[in-house]
Amino acid sequence: MRKLPLVESLRIIGRGSLNWLAERPIVVSFEVTDACTCYCKHCDHGGPRDETRNLKPAEYRRYMEALRPCVVQVSGGEPLMRDDVVEIVRQIKRGASVPYTILVSNWSLMTGEKYLELRDAGVDQFSVSLDFPDQRHDDFRMHPGLYRHLEKLVPRLAALGHDDIVLNSCITSANVGEIDAIADKAREWGVNLCYSAYSARRTGCHDYFLSTPEQLAELNAQLDRVEARRDPTNWIVNAPTTLEATRRYFANGGAPGCKAGQRFLVVTADGELQPCSMQFKRYPLEKRALMVREFTRENQCGECYVSIRSYLDKSFPQLLWENVSGFLSVSSGGK
Ligand SMILES: C[S@@+](CC[C@H](N)C(=O)[O-])C[C@H]1O[C@@H](n2cnc3c(N)ncnc32)[C@H](O)[C@@H]1O
Ligand code: SF4
Ligand code: SF4
Repeated sequence: MRKLPLVESLRIIGRGSLNWLAERPIVVSFEVTDACTCYCKHCDHGGPRDETRNLKPAEYRRYMEALRPCVVQVSGGEPLMRDDVVEIVRQIKRGASVPYTILVSNWSLMTGEKYLELRDAGVDQFSVSLDFPDQRHDDFRMHPGLYRHLEKLVPRLAALGHDDIVLNSCITSANVGEIDAIADKAREWGVNLCYSAYSARRTGCHDYFLSTPEQLAELNAQLDRVEARRDPTNWIVNAPTTLEATRRYFANGGAPGCKAGQRFLVVTADGELQPCSMQFKRYPLEKRALMVREFTRENQCGECYVSIRSYLDKSFPQLLWENVSGFLSVSSGGK
């Protein structure tokens, strides 16, 4: 994964440190639409939704000024369904290096032109969901032709050399046997890879959770293979400690210690704050402190181990160290 130049890294770390001390969120996820082009088996977002109350691009400024995150996710639903997504990114970035901005998308609507426009507007990282290294991806996402589209587009855009594309693979009981093969696919396409973990909290369906001894043994065997393939290019984006914690999450049926609402939060498409994408108690922007008091301080939920959580559960020194030695470290020339 592309390493950021020193000055940029220091700016992000500086803002992150201030936010940590001030109990402001490090990461804010803007769910810019609830609608989606897919109907994934593990998700509750599929299909069209009422879009009339979505925030307008200029309205994102108010959230940026109040929350001052150092990392932003632009997500959904499917963010590329918004015709004005480039303008939303512009309003979030305003030409500055902070926040580090990640577009989380299924890429069904991505084109070469849109990728370049979004980069130009300030997207630092493109997270592209991939659940299977072949056309089973289409069945899981209920979107015929999606894998063919990715297979053509991702390597073509990776070849431009910006090193800003990361496959985002959510581990489920359906694809646990493909973890290492998905790493092969990332290598073949010339991109990076970040694993995440299924939570039954979205849909209430436990079938995709890993719970049998066979599933857990497969998870461990697959992750052992992935660990053996790490190299200095940092293409496996998860820290080793995060993959260890992912094993424990599945083995224990959850992970305590979540800081949702405080270290990270979600801004819904219509502009309310939520502690995370799977906790639906909403607060207006002005009541963020109340959300921390009512939700975060009392939170006993450990029902997911999605990426945003896996980073921000850590102590500040550990987070700092892993980012300095990982994707926020000093650029050594091309990589
Ligand atoms: C909710 S989607 C939104 C962005 C975009 N539509 C996409 O799929 O990338 C963000 C990520 O959440 C993951 N996801 C969906 N349902 C999940 C679940 N039940 N547990 C964990 N991750 C889930 C998806 O695989 C995807 O990588
Ligand atoms: S995971 Fe993403 S693509 Fe799939 S239904 Fe949910 S929001 Fe849509
Ligand atoms: S563990 Fe935290 S981030 Fe995950 S669903 Fe529960 S409250 Fe939300």
